[in-house]
Amino acid sequence: MPEDKKMRDTKFKNSYELRQKPCFKDGSCQTCHCETGKGLPQGDLNIYPPLVDSDWTTGDKERTIKIVLHGMHGKIVRNGKTYGPPTTSPMIPYAGLYSDAEVAAALNFVLNTWGSKADEITVADVKPVRAATKVRKLFWKPEDLSKGEITA
Ligand code: HEC
Repeated sequence: MPEDKKMRDTKFKNSYELRQKPCFKDGSCQTCHCETGKGLPQGDLNIYPPLVDSDWTTGDKERTIKIVLHGMHGKIVRNGKTYGPPTTSPMIPYAGLYSDAEVAAALNFVLNTWGSKADEITVADVKPVRAATKVRKLFWKPEDLSKGEITA
């Protein structure tokens, strides 16, 4: 749970609580990243990466929004383990499944649970990223995202 101060902000609280829909229904974030946010690292077969304590998840709003909208597939190293093809399936794209509010809510939840703390993501953050990457039809590769610009 985020600290009380954050939850006293009604806008943040509403967005965080909307998680019930995007994050805790079948086929959603917890299916792969798990209820604990720790993902599924298993020996050499690292199947799903953790969302806890990841530089990527707390570092850059735009990048995490892009990942949720269009998915990602490629090699990443998290907490000393390597994820990516062939043992890791892709992170699926949610652009066609979630509204801007649901994308924001899913991220507010995963980025503020399990001990992580991140700035609030709002509809106003998601909207321009969705518009700028509207034509994108493929998963991101991690190297596309490290460049940082908002383009498809
Ligand atoms: C089908 C399984 C699956 C589902 C469902 C899923 N993810 Fe992922 N996610 C992945 C995989 C696999 C990766 C890493 C892909 C790679 O590196 O090739 C990933 C990566 C990520 C990353 C980047 C992590 C990092 O450290 O770079 C974020 C953020 C993320 N997912 C958020 C979410 C959110 C939010 C949801 C729900 C809206 C979600 N994921 C649902 C499988 C999933």
